[in-house]
Amino acid sequence: MRALTGIKPTATPHLGNLLGAIAPALALQEKADAFYFIADYHALTTLQDAERMRQYTREVAATWLALGLDPARTSLFVQSDIPEVTELTWLLACVLGSGALERAHAYKAAQQDGREVNVGTFLYPVLMAADILIYDSNAVPVGKDQKQHVEMARDMAQAFNSRFGEVFVIPEPIIAEAVATIPGLDGRKMSKSYGNTIEVWLPAKQLRKKIMSITTDSRGVDEVKDPDTCNVFALYKLFATPEQIAALAERYRAPGLGYGHAKEELFQVVEARLAPARVRYEHLLAHPEEIDAVLDAGTRRARTIAAGVLARARQAVGFAGAPRRAVM
Ligand code: TRP
Repeated sequence: MRALTGIKPTATPHLGNLLGAIAPALALQEKADAFYFIADYHALTTLQDAERMRQYTREVAATWLALGLDPARTSLFVQSDIPEVTELTWLLACVLGSGALERAHAYKAAQQDGREVNVGTFLYPVLMAADILIYDSNAVPVGKDQKQHVEMARDMAQAFNSRFGEVFVIPEPIIAEAVATIPGLDGRKMSKSYGNTIEVWLPAKQLRKKIMSITTDSRGVDEVKDPDTCNVFALYKLFATPEQIAALAERYRAPGLGYGHAKEELFQVVEARLAPARVRYEHLLAHPEEIDAVLDAGTRRARTIAAGVLARARQAVGFAGAPRRAVM
């Protein structure tokens, strides 16, 4: 089974991303032939600043490697290093009615706000379909918000196949049943748009400070507390062992534990999980040549597959020089 997903290099990762997307995708590399790429073509629809594009691209690669992406079995690469994907975008655009794109969530939202939409944003789902189909992907792990896009990719693959013959594998979305909603500092879902995130790579001191700012009720040290309605405890459950969870729950239910103590316990388990990865992360950012070596190897594997699938599609539509005539 081949699993493929794209990560947009447009933000610094937070604990919600780590638990909701990165950790499940890394777990999948054990049982799938995984292809994970940095979606810089997609990012360009909104991120139009070369320095930040370069910076975020390196950071995403370093993040995934530091957290356990195994380059020996998983191919990590940058989307724009596979130009075949833009060519396939055109082939797919020609079997898709524009109505489907007008109904896509992101486009509709922009229209409703009266924002001007660039053509890249309009074509976003077609590029994403090309990403998926060009690697003969079977499984596409994504968040709920991307499910519609994977369904559109299936529609394009089916439309193309019924017109031109069996060229594309029909992919399935895998929606990570989030362990739980991951609460942010204010108790709402952790999300960049709420400004309530805890970034993965904060230095220990700042991480501690962020954790200390989590909202709680105003119960004092001597009052008993309910772990099941507490944001601090909800996060603790996502990082601690079952024994640690049971022990802290017991302390909540008896006098003597202040929220400051609970936050300190939370800091300890989060820090224990992140500290070794943080060392690897800092090392990689200081040695970009190590990141590049991984990306080069991933690009070679990805591009070999992409070229084969694109040749099949070119052949199917009747382009004369399939895969492509040589020029020199
Ligand atoms: N659109 C996805 C997101 O915003 C990123 C992405 C681009 C992607 N191409 C993909 C995800 C292909 C899965 C498969 O998160």
